[in-house]
Amino acid sequence: SVDNQAIRDEIKALLQQKNAVLVAHYYTDDAIQELAEETGGVIADSLEMARFGANHEADTLVVAGVKFMGETAKILSPEKTIIMPTLEATCSLDIGCPIDEFSDFCDQYPERKVVVYANTSAAVKARADWVVTSSIALDVVEHLVDQGEKIIWAPDQHLGGYIQKETGADMILWDGACIVHEEFKAKGILDLKKIYPDAAILVHPESPESVVEIADVVGSTSQLLNATKSMPNSTFIVATDRGIFYKMKQASPSKRFIEAPTAGSGATCRSCAHCPWMALNSLELLRNALRDTSGEVFVPEDTRVKALVPLQRMLDFQV
Ligand code: 13P
Ligand code: SF4
Repeated sequence: SVDNQAIRDEIKALLQQKNAVLVAHYYTDDAIQELAEETGGVIADSLEMARFGANHEADTLVVAGVKFMGETAKILSPEKTIIMPTLEATCSLDIGCPIDEFSDFCDQYPERKVVVYANTSAAVKARADWVVTSSIALDVVEHLVDQGEKIIWAPDQHLGGYIQKETGADMILWDGACIVHEEFKAKGILDLKKIYPDAAILVHPESPESVVEIADVVGSTSQLLNATKSMPNSTFIVATDRGIFYKMKQASPSKRFIEAPTAGSGATCRSCAHCPWMALNSLELLRNALRDTSGEVFVPEDTRVKALVPLQRMLDFQV
């Protein structure tokens, strides 16, 4: 719309003025992803967002995603201003793993390495030995198994269970889940597969075990996007937030992408597979944050210094 165009122009001018760059997750609205593309920013999975932000020379990072992504950027780049369209965009995994309970949990198993998913607060990261994202979790845990380590894993039980199964690691799992991925249903996916027999099933590992089991590819958002480019199939059933369809369709305009069904939704649900917190990121709030330097992310310095250790360990990890 005309209004949108005015806001987009304003954002572009502000990005230049403030020497700022847009770091967006695949689950944000198409309009935000488009802007990131047009302005030299990035659209990425959570590991790539962290790397891109840390390596970029901008003074300000505008993180369009959820709170843990903004905090990760601040932990890695304390000298930069980190702003987000809204600080209310959080994550069910982060909410479900409060630091006090988590710390007590860890204290019960002092001999275990603490591995936490990036989808956690800065305080939880500060209590961990390793931070991982879905794209690197398997490799890190394999490495720990090779070292003979036993593991505490938090907070996503589905991702944790999948890694445990793949690696044979001795893991104690925190009881958390993603409210979006937890809803995908194997039965609904298999029903769709009957209609599209040549469809490949792509699954993010935050999904339940029954869904992961029927996947052709299990991976992070970037890994699933790459699969749609490299696989010959003409149809893909995708069990992750439908925000990723923007890049999937852009990369392969002639392929068909179908949202994996969620509870009670049937095959054509248009409002289920979408993270309510990611959806809070609007163009308008993004513009306001840049214009007013509102939505600035702060992490207490003692927490930041501690959380940096496992985060940096992840970034330095080579397969
Ligand atoms: P990726 O790390 O695969 O991008 O996904 C994490 C996630 O769920 C972001 O909300
Ligand atoms: Fe968290 Fe799930 Fe939303 Fe990702 S999609 S931010 S894991 S609630």
